[in-house]
Amino acid sequence: MITHSVRHPVLLRATTPSLRHITALRSCRQPRRLLPSSARTMSYNTSIPAFQSLLSSLGPNSRILALCGAGLSASSGLPTFRGAGGLWRNHDPTSLATPEAFAADPALVWLFYAWRRHMALKAEPNDGHKALAKLAEVKGASGFMCLTQNVDGLSQRAGHPAAQLKPLHGNILTLKCSSPSCNYIEHQNTDDPLCPALAAAAQDYPPDQPIPLLDAATPLPEIKRADLPHCPACKASSASSSSLLRPGVVWFGESLDSDMLMGVENWIYRGPIEVMLVIGTAAAVYPAAGYVRKAKRRGAVVAVVNPDPAAAEGLGPEDFWFGGDAAEVLPALFEGLVGRIGE
Ligand SMILES: NC(=O)c1ccc[n+]([C@@H]2O[C@H](COP(=O)([O-])OP(=O)(O)OC[C@H]3O[C@@H](n4cnc5c(N)ncnc54)[C@H](O)[C@@H]3O)[C@@H](O)[C@H]2O)c1
Ligand SMILES: [Zn+2]
Repeated sequence: MITHSVRHPVLLRATTPSLRHITALRSCRQPRRLLPSSARTMSYNTSIPAFQSLLSSLGPNSRILALCGAGLSASSGLPTFRGAGGLWRNHDPTSLATPEAFAADPALVWLFYAWRRHMALKAEPNDGHKALAKLAEVKGASGFMCLTQNVDGLSQRAGHPAAQLKPLHGNILTLKCSSPSCNYIEHQNTDDPLCPALAAAAQDYPPDQPIPLLDAATPLPEIKRADLPHCPACKASSASSSSLLRPGVVWFGESLDSDMLMGVENWIYRGPIEVMLVIGTAAAVYPAAGYVRKAKRRGAVVAVVNPDPAAAEGLGPEDFWFGGDAAEVLPALFEGLVGRIGE
């Protein structure tokens, strides 16, 4: 299937030292906050029963917004960017997720993405993805919208209704042409390995054995540019050369899909938002993280699900922090609305 992607520029930014050292310096001096808060002392609710009764007290026209991040898929076995296992062969993953990195060393960036594709294809949606998918069904399109920064496709595989899921940063199983003048795009490519040159990224090892690809001391396979995946559309139109294909994800410095963002804004400004769920995200990537403040301004109680206490900074007494695994916490939070997951 061939479609267009991005039109107007909405830049993806990260508050990482490697990308914007001025921002990183600021975030070092004053800890990053999800929300602006005048409260000096941290006071927020951590009671699951209290949150359950909040949900059960909401009227039929109430609206819930969710922002999900890599932590939602952590217990499905997919590493996050920040936290344990965050480095990839001594590379900060956010430094590989850039158009500049791809231009400089497409084989390295492709190996990184080929390995993440392999992991995503092997992974199964967890009870957190399933609970959100059920909540979407129960609340309907006007009552629940889920924004995900994840590119692993696990929410889709958990049966999350597509109209209520905005994959802000694309999908790792999408391939697109790296040439700005070509709009070739291919969805749901599940080939693994994607091509023979990337076979090292699709190799499984027994759990007690180290994975050579992840060991920075083991040299990477030598991959010629010609052996990386190339665009079939460019090839058809030019006898001499064709551009490389690249993963269909949004890299740092690139634009998010403007139609998708428009849809999100339209949904947000349709009325008040009662609850804003912030699930498994460090909330350090914009514009995604900015939706939390927007929901707060529309009256939302914010509920953060993240084992890292830093994720609760800025929450007020009306808000919630649940410091556990999203795969366990979400089914408990929504049980009154969606029943028991897995039964
Ligand atoms: N699965 C994926 O698709 C995937 C994986 C890694 C990174 N990314 C990309 O990384 C970028 C970084 O943003 P991010 O905030 O999503 O990820 P992140 O790596 O910056 O942060 C992950 C957050 O999840 C929390 N976390 C870890 N385990 C958890 C668990 N079991 N339950 C709940 N929370 C848990 C961590 O404390 C951390 O705050 C995004 O652009 C995203 O596209 C996606
Ligand atoms: Zn092309």
